[in-house]
Amino acid sequence: MMPRFCLAGALIPAMAFLSCLRPESWEPCMEVVPNITYQCMGQNLSKIPDNIPSSTKNLDLSFNPLNGLGSQSFSSFPDLQVLDLSRCEIQMIEDGAYQGLSQLSTLILTGNPIRSLALGAFSGLSSLKKLVAVETNLLSLENLPIGHLITLKELSVAHNLIHSFKLPEYFSNLTKLEHLDLSNNKIQVIHHKDLHVLRGKPLHNLSLDLSLNPIDFIQPGSFKEIRLHKLTLRSNFNSTNVMKTCIQGLAGLEVHQLVLGEFKNERNLASFDNSALEGLCSVTIEEFRLAYLDNFSGDIDNLFHCLENVSAMSLVSLYIENLEGLSKDFKWQTLELVRCKCQHFFHLALPFLKKMIFTDNRDVNNMPKFRVPSLEFLDLSGNGLSFKHCCSHTDLGTTRLKHLDLSFNGVITMNSNFLGLEELLYLDFQHCNLKQTSEFSVFLSLNKLVYLDISYTQIRIAFDGIFDGLISLKTLKMAGNSFKGNMLSNIFKNMTNLTFLDLSDCQLEYVSQGAFDQLPRLQILNMSHNQIVLLDTLPYEPLHALQVLDCSFNRIEGSIGQELHVPSNLSALNLTKNDFACICKYQNFLQWVKDQRQLLVEVEQMVCVAPSVMQGMPVLTFRNSTCQLSKTIISVSVLSVLVVSIIVVLVYKFYFHLMLLAGCKTYGRGESTYDAFVIYSSHDEDWVRNELVKNLEEGVPPFKLCLHYRDFIPGVAIAANIIQEGFHKSRKVIVVVSQHFIQSRWCIFEYEIAQTWQFLSSRAGIIFIVLQKLEKSLLRQQVELYRLLSRNTYLEWEDSVLGRHIFWRRLRKALLDGKPWNPEETVDAENNQQEATTST
Ligand SMILES: *[C@@H]1O[C@H](CO)[C@@H](O)[C@H](O)[C@H]1NC(C)=O
Ligand SMILES: *[C@@H]1O[C@H](CO)[C@@H](O)[C@H](O)[C@H]1NC(C)=O
Ligand SMILES: *[C@@H]1O[C@H](CO)[C@@H](O)[C@H](O)[C@H]1NC(C)=O
Ligand SMILES: *[C@@H]1O[C@H](CO)[C@@H](O)[C@H](O)[C@H]1NC(C)=O
Ligand SMILES: *[C@@H]1O[C@H](CO)[C@@H](O)[C@H](O)[C@H]1NC(C)=O
Ligand SMILES: *[C@@H]1O[C@H](CO)[C@@H](O)[C@H](O)[C@H]1NC(C)=O
Ligand SMILES: *[C@@H]1O[C@H](CO)[C@@H](O)[C@H](O)[C@H]1NC(C)=O
Ligand SMILES: *[C@@H]1O[C@H](CO)[C@@H](O)[C@H](O)[C@H]1NC(C)=O
Ligand SMILES: *[C@@H]1O[C@H](CO)[C@@H](O)[C@H](O)[C@H]1NC(C)=O
Ligand SMILES: *[C@@H]1O[C@H](CO)[C@@H](O)[C@H](O)[C@H]1NC(C)=O
Ligand SMILES: *[C@@H]1O[C@H](CO)[C@@H](O)[C@H](O)[C@H]1NC(C)=O
Ligand SMILES: *[C@@H]1O[C@H](CO)[C@@H](O)[C@H](O)[C@H]1NC(C)=O
Repeated sequence: MMPRFCLAGALIPAMAFLSCLRPESWEPCMEVVPNITYQCMGQNLSKIPDNIPSSTKNLDLSFNPLNGLGSQSFSSFPDLQVLDLSRCEIQMIEDGAYQGLSQLSTLILTGNPIRSLALGAFSGLSSLKKLVAVETNLLSLENLPIGHLITLKELSVAHNLIHSFKLPEYFSNLTKLEHLDLSNNKIQVIHHKDLHVLRGKPLHNLSLDLSLNPIDFIQPGSFKEIRLHKLTLRSNFNSTNVMKTCIQGLAGLEVHQLVLGEFKNERNLASFDNSALEGLCSVTIEEFRLAYLDNFSGDIDNLFHCLENVSAMSLVSLYIENLEGLSKDFKWQTLELVRCKCQHFFHLALPFLKKMIFTDNRDVNNMPKFRVPSLEFLDLSGNGLSFKHCCSHTDLGTTRLKHLDLSFNGVITMNSNFLGLEELLYLDFQHCNLKQTSEFSVFLSLNKLVYLDISYTQIRIAFDGIFDGLISLKTLKMAGNSFKGNMLSNIFKNMTNLTFLDLSDCQLEYVSQGAFDQLPRLQILNMSHNQIVLLDTLPYEPLHALQVLDCSFNRIEGSIGQELHVPSNLSALNLTKNDFACICKYQNFLQWVKDQRQLLVEVEQMVCVAPSVMQGMPVLTFRNSTCQLSKTIISVSVLSVLVVSIIVVLVYKFYFHLMLLAGCKTYGRGESTYDAFVIYSSHDEDWVRNELVKNLEEGVPPFKLCLHYRDFIPGVAIAANIIQEGFHKSRKVIVVVSQHFIQSRWCIFEYEIAQTWQFLSSRAGIIFIVLQKLEKSLLRQQVELYRLLSRNTYLEWEDSVLGRHIFWRRLRKALLDGKPWNPEETVDAENNQQEATTST
């Protein structure tokens, strides 16, 4: 006994400990998508774990000390598409290391101190599109054996030790190459011959990044006849002079986008001379971007005069006092000003400008004034601006506006309903403080508007006509506002094209029944973060096109309706984070949840909040059998109460029938025995015949009475008859006591049975029926009777329906008392009686 106990004592904690370990913790890798994506980052692995399935497509092995890659290191993962080997301390990649990875499209080798790269290191990578060899101690592009990777689109060799910009001959094989990142290398000089391979070759969509190279010379004409998609030269030059000569060296280049400037934390230029950009007059540029340059001097017109024909100008994080000097000849169509320290806004007058982006310029303190009649796109978001008037064409200086973004600003007072701005398709006010929005139909003239965002604009919607006029609207975002009485009323009228409606975080408790009646095309409805309690109070039934309904983060307990008729197109219903009550009241709903698993989002995350025993348990664990049980209990008890009461009623009614059935069957056999001998006065004979005989002999059970007028044997002395027929053959004696009986009959009776009185009084079988109320004095004359009546209870005849009923029941009961139910007993009793009779 003892050792077993000890064993158990040791085993139980051990097993408890083992069961605490989650199965994943045995594996070094995290399963992100089963059989597809595995993440083994930083697990101190020196080789690829065995339990990674061969069907894996994405494998992240970064930050593991793999050291070297031998031949066919990954041959067991033929489906691999993305392989991340960042910082794996790889120093050596042997021939055919990636052999067999014909599906691999992305290979990341960042941060490996590669010393030895075999010529066939990248063989077999017939689909490789992206090779990242950042920070790999690469000394030259020549050393990279990638000439056969003809599918390559993106090559990043940033942050290496490359000194020469000479693009090797194999680049002519890389016809699909679009991105070449050579930033943060050691390139100082660019020669004409370095770009030989790009000339006249089909590599005409290359984006080239040379940022953070300490370039001090570009041989003039190096970029002649070269077309690039994008050229980036940021933080390359340590003085304006170098910059100026290098930019001159770009002459003849044709580039879609040119990016110049510096990085926030890489400032080399102490000052900036406007003449630095002069060389750009001999470069063909479509889009120009300038970033992080502080100190302009001179006038802005001069600075940008070589850029007058670019279509898009982007100025990021610059210190520009004003742009007012810009000539009207500038052909700019797009102007972007992001995070610029513009203290005073300016009166812009660019006739070709169609798109203006002016964002995150925190120092601006007054509302910009525009005179740009062709402006179609205006983004003024994130400037902390306040607008005292909004919005009409006079405020914005254009009638062509299609896109207006005023989000993330200050107080905007809506005192005009977009007069002259009827072309608007897109309007964004989110996270502003909109005033006077719910006072009139602000959007009435915006019949073409497709997109409206008024999320978190502190509107309290009290006016049903707020959205009148928005008949083309497809997307309406109004999260984070509130409604009068927390009730969504019928504000969506004639919005037949609305497909997306975000009403989240609006403190909604109720939704009026017709609220969604006129939204036949609505596909996505977001009601999350509200206060809805019952799911079926949402009138989603008219939303025939609804696909996604998000009711997460509400207070939904369940739904009371018998059945939920969700729209037939619904494919996702999010009910997570609600206050589900897992009680029988909602059992139809809870069953519905089980039946609609595939419709419900994260159905396992739907947990019960009530009752307390179910708290925190998934809704799916609710068993409706408990309800059936209690239902059964209730119905069974109701039924049994009913049955019992029916039985009681029936028993009461058919008591004597039942008695007959149960035992009195045998009673009929003792034909010769009477149930009772009736003693009465002849004056009461009518009552005896009409009432007593009728009720007892013809009732149920039938009693047999011994009546002297009928049953006494003629010719025998009356006393003998009384004794023989009456007393001896009857179980009971019924004495019908009346006035007459006392006065007349009793004396005779007394006389005739005086001798048997002894016998009579000893038997408990006398039933007295008192027919009329008797005078006590009269009764007292009959001493013996008085004694008997006062000692025994007697039955009083009462001539009323209830009285009769009670009388007969009592009488029957009294007669049944002592009746021999057992047939044998009856026989015995008969025998005894017969013996007694014969012996007398
Ligand atoms: C993963 O692959 C194994 C073996 O091929 C298979 O049995 C299993 O069902 C797969 N699991 C999933 C989630 O596809
Ligand atoms: C990593 O694994 C090696 C042996 O494979 C071991 O010596 C080393 O301590 C481990 N490092 C950490 C941080 O666990
Ligand atoms: C170019 O690709 C062809 C075929 O893919 C290959 O034979 C040739 O060696 C490659 N050229 C260079 C320079 O790698
Ligand atoms: C050129 O490449 C850029 C991405 O770098 C891409 O957006 C553009 O569509 C490409 N143009 C052509 C003509 O392939
Ligand atoms: C700029 O760089 C060159 C060489 O890279 C160096 O000789 C020169 O002193 C630098 N000038 C400044 C102002 O830092
Ligand atoms: C650049 O401008 C800033 C702010 O105007 C000023 O503090 C700084 O001294 C200027 N630097 C040079 C080199 O002029
Ligand atoms: C801009 O274009 C106009 C005419 O199209 C031309 O006269 C002018 O020289 C161009 N400016 C520059 C800087 O290329
Ligand atoms: C609703 O959309 C349809 C198709 O996108 C379009 O034909 C119709 O004109 C739109 N209705 C309104 C009122 O904009
Ligand atoms: C809805 O549009 C119809 C015509 O398209 C118009 O008669 C009706 O007044 C509009 N209803 C509302 C509430 O705007
Ligand atoms: C609904 O809005 C909440 C935030 O209020 C957001 O988290 C959720 O993703 C949205 N749901 C849908 C279906 O867009
Ligand atoms: C609810 O589920 C939908 C559909 O999966 C999802 O887009 C949405 O983000 C979820 N809502 C929240 C608040 O997470
Ligand atoms: C109770 O559950 C059973 C099986 O899960 C189901 O068939 C039955 O319809 C449910 N009853 C109710 C009333 O939901």
